[in-house]
Amino acid sequence: MVKIGILGVGTVGASVANILEANADIIEARAGKKIIAKSGVVKNLGKERGVSIKLSDNPLDVVDDPEIDIVVELMGGVEEPYALVKKALENGKAVVTANKALLAYHRYELQEIAGDIPLMYEASTAGGIPIIGALRTGLSANHIESIQGIMNGTCNYMLTNMINNGAKYEEILKESQELGYAEADPTFDVGGFDASHKLLILASIAYGIDAKPEDILIEGIENITSTDVDFAKEFGYEIKSLGIAKKVGNGVELRVHATMIPADSMIAKVDGVMNAVTVVGDRVGETMYYGPGAGGDATASAVISDIVDIVRGNQGPMLGYKKGLESGLKLLPKEDIVTQYYLRLEVADESGVLASITSTLGKFGISIEAMLQKPSSTEERAKLLFTTHKCKESEMQEAMTALGKLDVVHGEIAMMRIEK
Ligand code: HSE
Repeated sequence: MVKIGILGVGTVGASVANILEANADIIEARAGKKIIAKSGVVKNLGKERGVSIKLSDNPLDVVDDPEIDIVVELMGGVEEPYALVKKALENGKAVVTANKALLAYHRYELQEIAGDIPLMYEASTAGGIPIIGALRTGLSANHIESIQGIMNGTCNYMLTNMINNGAKYEEILKESQELGYAEADPTFDVGGFDASHKLLILASIAYGIDAKPEDILIEGIENITSTDVDFAKEFGYEIKSLGIAKKVGNGVELRVHATMIPADSMIAKVDGVMNAVTVVGDRVGETMYYGPGAGGDATASAVISDIVDIVRGNQGPMLGYKKGLESGLKLLPKEDIVTQYYLRLEVADESGVLASITSTLGKFGISIEAMLQKPSSTEERAKLLFTTHKCKESEMQEAMTALGKLDVVHGEIAMMRIEK
């Protein structure tokens, strides 16, 4: 019999305990051994958790319990779970974690500490979708050319409801929290940080890139307006928050941001809490993985898949390689990213304004692909909406600074990147 201890019995932890009990027969058949949840740790013992396992508020009751074979870490945070996971590994216990923030900051140290002890993390990225297994194992014959996807269920749930149903930002965020999709601090979701953690995990498996969230381009969905949504619809785009990892020469671009993508692409049709990740390998070509990116049972399904794998003895290095992959490819500086852009400006509605805007863009080598002018709420002003051909991020940033200094431009300039 294999005994599990759960650090953090919140939405996902409770689902893990309940699924291990409810689906015990099928899980035993697949793993080859009986697996039971023995105990769990919570911060507040007074709160009802809906589980029948023994609960404690001392993590060492799990980590130092000689009867526990596998520690499941679902606490969230970075340094406290790092210390506990380290201790569990040092105690010889296998660990399963869903904690993407922990891995975004400490994955390479944890790989060292774990050595041959299993440390698995399928639930850390894209909830119930087995994307870690696909990259670590399924695609191991391939050089990975790109990874692109919807990696945050909360953002996708919010964007879908805001765009399709006209839902209000604050209301739909609250709903995502009530449904158990959002992080304890939802700015991690809407600010793009949660997706950046997941992207870094995938980029480590695919490319051996040892970057931290601070090193990469991260933007949230907070500034999208109905004007942007209407423009996107009119020009055949859908707006999605994407995580993108792309091999460009000897570099790898890593970025998370709201993105305009063609409305007829497969990923544009991924709605609600669903996540989808497209991986292009040099031999397999394009592959796509789709499923629920958040929620108790969906995430617990991924946690239990790791437990079953460990019990079966399916191991291997944590990140899917021992040596070699980390050499060669470097993180591409943010300024060198090349893509197409959408711009929204509020300008004075008078003669010569368009010319000064387009000539400013021209000075930075930026060529316009499409343009639309819309009346603004005040009579003397207009909204100008552009899409550009490809240019460098540094050129776009400099052009935006120059545009912002023109007398005829009022307020913030909004920008969104376009991927085709
Ligand atoms: N808050 C996360 C999301 C949960 O919305 O995707 C899964 O990591």
